[in-house]
Amino acid sequence: MIFLKRLEEIEEAVIIRLNSISDLRELEKLKSDYLSRKGKFSLLMKELKELPLDLRPQAGEKANQVKRKLDELFQAKAQALKEKKAPAEFIDFTLPGRKSWEGKLHPLTQVLERIVEIFYGMGFEVVKGPDIETNYYNFDALNFPQDHPARDMQDTFYLSEDLILRTHTSPVQVRVFEKKKPPVKILVPGRVYRHEAINARSFCLFYQIEGFYVDEEVTFTDLKGVLVAFVREFFGKDAELRFRASFFPFTEPSAEVDIRCIICKGEGCSVCKYRGWLEVLGAGMIDPEVFRAVGYDPERYSGYAFGLGVDRIAMSKYRVDDIRLFYENDIRFLKQF
Ligand code: PHE
Repeated sequence: MIFLKRLEEIEEAVIIRLNSISDLRELEKLKSDYLSRKGKFSLLMKELKELPLDLRPQAGEKANQVKRKLDELFQAKAQALKEKKAPAEFIDFTLPGRKSWEGKLHPLTQVLERIVEIFYGMGFEVVKGPDIETNYYNFDALNFPQDHPARDMQDTFYLSEDLILRTHTSPVQVRVFEKKKPPVKILVPGRVYRHEAINARSFCLFYQIEGFYVDEEVTFTDLKGVLVAFVREFFGKDAELRFRASFFPFTEPSAEVDIRCIICKGEGCSVCKYRGWLEVLGAGMIDPEVFRAVGYDPERYSGYAFGLGVDRIAMSKYRVDDIRLFYENDIRFLKQF
């Protein structure tokens, strides 16, 4: 019977088209194509009464079956679409992307590496020394008297009676002198430790870069020359230095060196404590006593040494007014550099 065949065709067509439908609006449209008053199924139903009488019961029964089937199919599909049953296949192209962060060197490492690079360009060789030192290298050989206040527990971390955390990078001078004859032109970057009250300007550890040069006829002018060249290279041509007379047991004469505050250009601000200048290093001509302790002839050789405070330099370069920020490792702070 052609009528039954046409019913089956309608059912098949609906099943095929349902497969490619992905939203409720399309589904409504398909439903009305078949089941609305002018839909394909409804139009076929109108032909039912034109069939010969004896065929009508069978045709009517089949029509009811197909109608129930179509209702079920439409309902199941509507449910599936509402639940979005297959989230794995669902890609929302409007979602903002996830950002991935780029790793960076710590700001102190960046500054330290830049300083080392500048001195390396002036002929300094890079050497490292141990963080754990003996009293001999940290103090005795550097001409610190037995009762010098720096040896006090207040300033120095003692690990045992003789072992300490180095309070400066200067002991590496002695270690190098013991092994090498002049000329020596060395740079020593490293971490140092002080048992000090912690505040915005000082921390219990920080970084220094020691530089020293020993040869015949090395003068204080040579020292000034390298320091001025360094500061201009690091901070720019307008950078200014100021040498103040000072004292260290292992240098004579000694100086403390300030740079004109980069932030306020000398006007006074919180980073330079309203002085207009920032102390960044100690320096001087190596004391003959140090040479005697390592067997260098002080009549023949002379040399200079300086110790740069890396944290201070980083603070002024980046306008950071609290040294502790460098050691807290707060990612919000670190990712700015
Ligand atoms: N070691 C001294 C300090 O830590 C700095 C310094 C180094 C001074 C070299 C003179 C020469 O304070």
